[in-house]
Amino acid sequence: MTDFNFSNLNLQLLLCFCVNFAILKIFGGFLTNQERIPMIQFLDVFKSYDGVQALKGLSFTVRSGEIFGLLGPNGAGKTTAVHILAGILPLDRGTVLIQNKNILQNASVFKSIGIAPQALSLYTNLSAKENLIFFGRLFGLSGEKLKQQVKKALSFVQLTDQADKLVKTFSGGMKRRLNLAAALVHDPQILILDEPTVGVDPQSRNAIFENIRQLKKQGRTIIYTTHYMEEAQQLCDHLAIMDHGELIAFGTVRELIERYGNKPVLIVETKNGVKEFRTNEALGVLEKLKDHETILNFRFEQSNLEQVFLNLTGHSLRN
Ligand SMILES: Nc1ncnc2c1ncn2[C@@H]1O[C@H](COP(=O)(O)OP(=O)(O)OP(=O)(O)O)[C@@H](O)[C@H]1O
Ligand SMILES: [Mg+2]
Repeated sequence: MTDFNFSNLNLQLLLCFCVNFAILKIFGGFLTNQERIPMIQFLDVFKSYDGVQALKGLSFTVRSGEIFGLLGPNGAGKTTAVHILAGILPLDRGTVLIQNKNILQNASVFKSIGIAPQALSLYTNLSAKENLIFFGRLFGLSGEKLKQQVKKALSFVQLTDQADKLVKTFSGGMKRRLNLAAALVHDPQILILDEPTVGVDPQSRNAIFENIRQLKKQGRTIIYTTHYMEEAQQLCDHLAIMDHGELIAFGTVRELIERYGNKPVLIVETKNGVKEFRTNEALGVLEKLKDHETILNFRFEQSNLEQVFLNLTGHSLRN
């Protein structure tokens, strides 16, 4: 009798599991980022330049449809990593997969990648439109399709009215936006943006942010390198922090702050002066304090990504 009940329970559990599995399959579109399939995998990648070891066994995974932040101090190896991914640089050792295909054996995967490089890649003696026609042709576009894509890319970065102007007459922000358009002109599934907001004013930065959010909504996978921690905190689903060619931390913003951030600080202004408490129990501290102090004001400061970055990579200057 006991045996019978036990197997009955097992059967129910099995049924329950099967139903849940089927629901997950059917409603796959609702999967969270963490459950999405890998789009890009770096597995133990090494790269050196004339004796300078730029990547030392770099490994990370980027999931489909996410904005993946690649952070690190100057010289950490971010540009080297994204150039390998875009097929601009060869790797020395290790494996890079795009949708489970090894990039060394499947050159066609590079068609699904667009890169807006850190060093602007534009012909300044050509107009904005001529630049985009050039990059579109590189990716095999021609005729009506090329015309349409160029028009779409110009409109996306709000440069339609400047289409026929020479790039050398553009401001820094306009050049950055055109650099982004050049990465998009062939409609790639994966976008690499290597410091896309360097040297631009808050208006251009907001326009670029808006573009990036729209590209994510369209289902594209975005790799984003930046030195601006507030940008990474606002935009990225997952972050990889690298230093000296290696991954040193990975997670969501919240996970990284919990693991590597400072304890939050409660700053209380009392009649006897300002007092600071490093605590996760702000209410308890205030409760106790008010019994013997007159509290005039208080604020609670959470740790942020900048602190995480400095805690992990130190304060010394890099080359
Ligand atoms: N073409 C090159 N020749 C020699 N060394 C290079 C070359 N490109 C990069 N390096 C070196 O490789 C290392 C990684 O450089 P990389 O440009 O990938 O770093 P990064 O993280 O993108 O830096 P930044 O934040 O300054 O853009 C550095 O030590 C750099 O000096
Ligand atoms: Mg770089």
